[in-house]
Amino acid sequence: MYTEVIKLNNENYDYAIKLAGKHIRRGNIVIFPTETVYGIGANALDEDSSKKIYMAKGRPSDNPLIVHIENMDDLNKISKKIDERTKKIIDCFWPGPLTIIVEKSEIVPSCITGGLNTVAVRMPSNKIARDLIKKSGVPIAAPSANISGRPSITSEKFITDEFFGKVDLILLNESTEIGIESTVIDVTGENIVILRPGFITKNDLENLLAEKVIFDLNISDETKVPKSPGMKYRHYAPKCELYLISGSINMQIDTAKNQIANDIKNGIKSIVLGLDNNRRYFENYLDLGNSDIDVAKNIFTNLRMLDIMKIQKAYFLYEVKSELDFSILDRVKKAAGYKII
Ligand code: TXA
Ligand code: MG
Repeated sequence: MYTEVIKLNNENYDYAIKLAGKHIRRGNIVIFPTETVYGIGANALDEDSSKKIYMAKGRPSDNPLIVHIENMDDLNKISKKIDERTKKIIDCFWPGPLTIIVEKSEIVPSCITGGLNTVAVRMPSNKIARDLIKKSGVPIAAPSANISGRPSITSEKFITDEFFGKVDLILLNESTEIGIESTVIDVTGENIVILRPGFITKNDLENLLAEKVIFDLNISDETKVPKSPGMKYRHYAPKCELYLISGSINMQIDTAKNQIANDIKNGIKSIVLGLDNNRRYFENYLDLGNSDIDVAKNIFTNLRMLDIMKIQKAYFLYEVKSELDFSILDRVKKAAGYKII
């Protein structure tokens, strides 16, 4: 397949968005940035177009896609009645990094919902994503733009290698702002349930609604089956062996030092990832920044850097101090295949 790649700038912007909209309307696939991660999108209302996404990603067909919309009319078309509680959530958090699971209407093909009678909907805040949906004139089904099982992509530099020849058009911009995928919540039951933690947190939702919000308890436990189909698959995985380390940060540093000393003895190329203030303890270190916001933004790029650097073993140093840290750790645990030392 011929893939056109456009690096967006002020001069080509209108042309590129128009072209991308045309591709979506014709049933083709377009990769575009959002505020969370890059997405790989197609017309959400057309079964054949959406099937092409599963092919390009190598994604299992029971794993449903998020439908990206630009306005509330789109939401009313693809869902059944939206209740007052959900309207309140939408007013507060959309456009933004929050995906809401609602009951789907007839026009949503069941192939994009993995056969479920619900649909995941998100109104992104990123201007490129919004302009693209508007120009396309249809909602856009878009999972994260990565080969299934690999880390999501937040930096333009990995997109072309992964998808050249597999999609019709790639729109490149700078790195995405948030860096981890949207929070996914299910509002169809009595309690609101968080199916995937993200930038919008449990506290954010509880403060708004003055009611208890619960986690799908199975999301961070490898032995349980989560409610969100996508959470059960191996995810975000770099090619190397990645480990989390248990204990306080000082204990983690000591353990990592011992591991690295052993690796050197055995001729294994290893590295430590963590916050900037711990880099002084290690010679080979990937610096994720100074705060949870930095780590969210940088984590997927650094997981991919491990492959480029041909690292064999990597150790992730981290303490959970905030709700965002918890969301980050959810990704890294999966990337590590739940290996903790
Ligand atoms: O930030 C994001 O959400 C990015 C950007 C591109 O918008 N998209 C993204 O899509 O992360 P994806 O497909 O990689 O993750 C969607 C998650 C999966 O875990 C999927 O199983 C879940 O949402 N999901 C989708 N529809 C669902 C449904 N009807 N019920 C439960 N979970 C659903
Ligand atoms: Mg994904």
